[in-house]
Amino acid sequence: MTSAHTEARFRVAPGGRIAGALTVPGDKSISHRALMLGGIAEGDTEIRGFLAGADCLSTLHALEALGVRIERRGGDVVVVHGGGSGALRGSSASLDMGNAGTAMRLFMGLLAPQSFDSVLVGDESLMRRPMERVAAPLRLMGARIETREGRPPVHIRGASALRGIDYRLPVASAQVKSALLLAALGASGPTRLTEPAPTRDHTERMLAAFGVELRRERLSVALEGGQRLRGTSVQVPADFSSAAFFIVAGLIAAEGSFTLRNVGVNPTRTGLLEILNRMGADIRVQAHAGAAAEPTADIEVRKSRLRGIHVPRELVPLSIDEFPILFVAAALAEGETTVRGAEELRVKESDRLAVMAEGLTVLGVHNELLDDGLRIRGGSGFGGGLIDSHGDHRIAMSFAVAALAARAPIEIRKVANVATSFPGFLELARAAGLAIEAM
Ligand code: S3P
Repeated sequence: MTSAHTEARFRVAPGGRIAGALTVPGDKSISHRALMLGGIAEGDTEIRGFLAGADCLSTLHALEALGVRIERRGGDVVVVHGGGSGALRGSSASLDMGNAGTAMRLFMGLLAPQSFDSVLVGDESLMRRPMERVAAPLRLMGARIETREGRPPVHIRGASALRGIDYRLPVASAQVKSALLLAALGASGPTRLTEPAPTRDHTERMLAAFGVELRRERLSVALEGGQRLRGTSVQVPADFSSAAFFIVAGLIAAEGSFTLRNVGVNPTRTGLLEILNRMGADIRVQAHAGAAAEPTADIEVRKSRLRGIHVPRELVPLSIDEFPILFVAAALAEGETTVRGAEELRVKESDRLAVMAEGLTVLGVHNELLDDGLRIRGGSGFGGGLIDSHGDHRIAMSFAVAALAARAPIEIRKVANVATSFPGFLELARAAGLAIEAM
């Protein structure tokens, strides 16, 4: 990425009203998984509502480099022509995962049982992120994997016969769980994984849709190795994590009601709704009927007076990607909001606790950075200023939304990575009522 690219900025004029209805792009987590499972399934998989953001395109290109034929049919439809897990072939070049932690970690699990070697690399942010959380349990299964002091590049040596494991995850991480489930498919015997707390279960739901038998209890999931996947059709809902920016925008500045359509409301993703409800938000969820693998709903938001709360720890994994925008809401709430038990935020695309604390301070919001969380004294609105997003898409979008309640313009640096998860954010934000421009 060129420096000019990473220096792209948003400038958002203060104030504005949010009105109408919109549909945000498809779910990132589900799009990654649909491509990968389609790639190791037998037969075609049609994906509708695919998120053509940079992260999922990294997955798509890596699968192509591994020999999978993928057709982009225009709009948001993608067809993956799977030949079964045995049809993958090694790539002589490194596989570039860009900014996508999900791609890198899930590919580690997918590639560990293969007969060929692979090397996984990524951008500057991804090259700093921890990979031993996946590599270590994969080694217990018999995989040969090397990291550089725990970080990428990740070298996966082929021709290892993997064995199933009974493993307790030390961190609540859907990426680790998913990587191990993918490896378990290519291992001999049963695998059982137990999480310290529930995390997003898109992999489990989708594996079942591809014909894999799994046994699930609240905190554990088990499957027998060697099962084959059958291609299927996958309908990807709008990404709750992208909708979250507009949910908070609506709480700050909706004129009447503001609606987000067809949003994925898998309960392992919607912790933010529970947190905002406890803060006094007026949010109405109209669930769609039907028995799709992933539940969807329209979400209607009205301008609301929020109050600060202690965020219950058990809600942290269920709202893990929504803390940047939740901190913006907390800054506008009366009283203090405290988040603890969120140390995982330090190893996301940026150190989201430190970077949000820094940005809130620039805008005049009192906050205290804690080892595992943040305490925010809300209620005094935002000043204006120059925010460094540290190249983190969710930080950039969160501060753009903050401008709705600011007294002066907010300028945000290094916003190019917004396109990793939310292509078209600028246009949608403008259509909704934000006075935002790119510079
Ligand atoms: C994801 C899991 C979460 C989340 C990430 C996407 C996934 O990461 O933060 O954006 O698709 O499985 P962790 O598993 O590291 O918590």
